[in-house]
Amino acid sequence: MLSKINSITLVGIEGYEVEVEVEVQGGLPYFAMVGLPDVVVKESKERVKAAIKNSNFLLEPGRIIVNFAPADLKKEGTHLDLAVAVGILCCIGEINYVKTRGCVFIGELSLNGEVRGVRGILPMLLEARGKFKRAFIPYENQFEVSFIDDIEIFPISNLNEVADTINNDLPPQRTYIDNFNKNDIQDLDFNEVKGQKYVKRAIEVAVSGGHNILLIGPPGSGKSMIAQRVPTILPELSLEESVEVTKIYSVAGLLKDKGRLINNPPFRGPHHSVSAASFVGGGSNPMPGEVSLAHNGVLFLDELPEFRRDVLEALRQPIEDGKVTISRVKGKYTYPARFMIIASMNPCPCGYYGYPIKECHCSENQIRGYLNKISGPLLDRLDLHISVEPVSFIELNREKDEESSLKIRERVTKARKIQLERFKDEGIFCNSQMKPKHIKKYCKLDEKASKLLEIAFKNLALTSRGYSKILKISRTIADMDSSEKICEKHIAEAIQYRNMDKRFWR
Ligand SMILES: Nc1ncnc2c1ncn2[C@@H]1O[C@H](COP(=O)(O)OP(=O)(O)OP(=O)(O)O)[C@@H](O)[C@H]1O
Ligand SMILES: [Mg+2]
Repeated sequence: MLSKINSITLVGIEGYEVEVEVEVQGGLPYFAMVGLPDVVVKESKERVKAAIKNSNFLLEPGRIIVNFAPADLKKEGTHLDLAVAVGILCCIGEINYVKTRGCVFIGELSLNGEVRGVRGILPMLLEARGKFKRAFIPYENQFEVSFIDDIEIFPISNLNEVADTINNDLPPQRTYIDNFNKNDIQDLDFNEVKGQKYVKRAIEVAVSGGHNILLIGPPGSGKSMIAQRVPTILPELSLEESVEVTKIYSVAGLLKDKGRLINNPPFRGPHHSVSAASFVGGGSNPMPGEVSLAHNGVLFLDELPEFRRDVLEALRQPIEDGKVTISRVKGKYTYPARFMIIASMNPCPCGYYGYPIKECHCSENQIRGYLNKISGPLLDRLDLHISVEPVSFIELNREKDEESSLKIRERVTKARKIQLERFKDEGIFCNSQMKPKHIKKYCKLDEKASKLLEIAFKNLALTSRGYSKILKISRTIADMDSSEKICEKHIAEAIQYRNMDKRFWR
């Protein structure tokens, strides 16, 4: 007999429908799998046979042929086990084949017939809904998809349970938990950072427009402390963004809180010893890297010059395109990677060059060598350059209440709303993503502003990229001011955030 069972496979972070055709006949024992399965899928022969036997089904020796369709789609991983086993059980009459119509099966099998969890269940079910009525998934994966309710989900723990449920029309046994917790408590707050008005303002500008920022300053001036608090002022993710982020974490097998969508923007701070492969993604079985895990959130690069050169160079593609593409023999994988960078660094190896609080012991060559680890093109892509001076003792001890993250976040959210509205038909979300045509359309300057920019262009020897950065940043500052027009004061503030490379790099 021939059976056709539905399943889903993963390519990158997207799920694709797969049909598993199974034929079981008498004759000499033989088990073949065709239709572009990878090695891991092929290994499932032994698991499936053992799981069926150990679940006390009678599988007579004979010929089993499994075909995966469409044939041109590479099938990977262990999550097709369940569909293969169900196909065989239908052929030998242990599962009522007619009742499997409209069902999709996802799960790995263990030798004793248990159904094990898989990674990437969320994108797989996002693909399945709308196409199938029912999904059989591993019990331990159910909380990952608890917000999906337009497909009937059957969490199952073993092969016998699958057969029983289908044959006897049993209802799904699902446990629901609240999946979209709007008020996740974060234990850091900007009100712990004393003083630093200028730096806080620059951070607010950067976050409001999604601009990258470089913090430069001596040891202990609070760069890391400030960067770590940025997530507390980021606007909450929209449902669409949450699903995108959760899909990436689901594929990477990194969902901590399996019942919930990730609704806070991610914050990734990879150590500077990170390899290029785990930074941009890769490996023989490709996985999203740090830049994708930071998608829709923040990538914090502490001690920027300490990162390997190939890692820093690899940053360019995601910064420009908002995604990374990894080529493998098996095919190309694309993962989303649109993030805001917060980078921090000391100005020299000892940390005090340019800051008279302590004498700098580095030679001219050491300083140049250190600063030049950040290439011109990379420096150019870090939109705002901010010097972080240490706060004074008096300021540290001042009783004055500092502004809370909640307050700052309210303003950021307001500025982001203006941008979302402005760009609703443009396919972008915030000012930092503006292309030249958007800049032309939305960054109109009044006469005074345009005069000021002209002077700055000459005096600061700006590059054309630097020039459009100033325009984008000033658009953000004007939005924070609820001003349709970009005025002189907005340009003036934006220029301040671009004149640091002069102080250190030239
Ligand atoms: N403005 C501030 N308000 C309150 N505490 C501060 C402030 N600045 C620095 N600190 C204190 O100093 C500590 C060191 O700051 P932090 O680690 O952020 O410095 P850094 O600039 O990252 O230094 P390094 O260059 O050595 O990495 C913080 O953990 C915090 O306790
Ligand atoms: Mg630090």
